[in-house]
Amino acid sequence: MRTQVAIIGAGPCGLVLGALLAQSGIDALIIERKSGAYVLGRIRAGVLEQGTVGILESLGLDGRLKAEGLSHKGFALGFANRSLRIDLADLTGGKQVTVYGQTEVTHDLMDARAAAGLETLYEADGVELHEFASSKPYVTCKHNGMALRIDCDFIAGCDGFHGVARASVPKVALQEFERVYPFGWLGVLVDVPPCDPELIYASHERGFALCSMRSLTRSRYYLQCRADEDLSAWPDARFYDELRRRLDPQAAAHVVAGPSLEKSVAPLRSYVAEPLRFGRLFLAGDAAHIVPPTGAKGLNLAVGDAYYLARALHEYYREGSDSGINHYSARALDRIWKAERFSWWMTSLLHRFDHYTPFETRMQAAEFGYLEQSRAARIVLAENYVGLPL
Ligand code: APR
Ligand code: PHB
Repeated sequence: MRTQVAIIGAGPCGLVLGALLAQSGIDALIIERKSGAYVLGRIRAGVLEQGTVGILESLGLDGRLKAEGLSHKGFALGFANRSLRIDLADLTGGKQVTVYGQTEVTHDLMDARAAAGLETLYEADGVELHEFASSKPYVTCKHNGMALRIDCDFIAGCDGFHGVARASVPKVALQEFERVYPFGWLGVLVDVPPCDPELIYASHERGFALCSMRSLTRSRYYLQCRADEDLSAWPDARFYDELRRRLDPQAAAHVVAGPSLEKSVAPLRSYVAEPLRFGRLFLAGDAAHIVPPTGAKGLNLAVGDAYYLARALHEYYREGSDSGINHYSARALDRIWKAERFSWWMTSLLHRFDHYTPFETRMQAAEFGYLEQSRAARIVLAENYVGLPL
């Protein structure tokens, strides 16, 4: 087979890249290890920056997003039983975020791709990347029992943190930056109305809690837990008891308990690989970086990378210029590091760290007090939360 751009991975990053390339008339083939149903079964984040919504709009993919997505003009920070509303719209000159699940974004992208007759190889086994240091890279895999070779001009590694693309790069060519946090998030998805119309990020001496949602009838709740937490120790009743203890009394009183549709533990990690280009291979999305979920940046960063990479390839094919592909890595990393900083800051502010000394605990309290007192501090938080410009 032959294509211009071989995209590894059909997560949001690979699918957005595929859609943007199609818009530029660039031929791309997506190669995905799992089935479409499996990809859609993963429960992931749910807060879209305005820039992300803009990209989906430009692709004509905003129909369901506009009808079913929830506009959020603010959220609450809870700290030691005090509550502070971050008025995003007021602090950023009218910007807001949209609550719409990554699963739904993925669904819309997959449907549009299928409707446009664009090809995705699902359930591709043993994907391998070859010769990307040369001008004739290719990808091999097994699909429907057949060995395939896909010749291409470029390979886009959009295959997530555990994918094959970054693992194919010689270790000496890659610099890695990492922080693993000593805790995880225990998440529950449940068909009950959210306890508050806006998200609540709550810091508590028992640990962090987050009240989020997917719709007006579906809630998503998280509790800070041990990284190796045993799920079987968390029947629903215990989860809701613990959640209520970590929230302010008013929010706690509005938590409706219901049978969990999904319950899982996610580790928290900050990670960046540099650079993001190796000859004719580019890394994008979770393949290149991970943020802890506290600032809701993971999905938005993945879409941002896809946007930069699509623009770079557009310049290459449509304008005959190498400038975009030469600058992709630096351009994307600049924005990635700022989102890393914000996610690390928000994680550090709101979680309980067992190794913190009383001094560090007081620093968290002082930081929260400063946010309460200073509009300038709240603006810094708000402009990062709604997303830095693309
Ligand atoms: N070959 C082919 N496909 C692969 C391989 C492989 N060896 N390894 C992984 N994949 C696929 C995965 O099955 C997955 O569908 O690559 C896809 C990567 O998708 P995501 O993990 O969703 O990553 P990305 O598209 O970058 O989106 C990042 O997902 O994890 C969240 O918080 C994160 O919201 C962010 C978003
Ligand atoms: C979610 O709804 O899953 C969610 C929302 C906000 C976050 C992280 C996750 O910061």
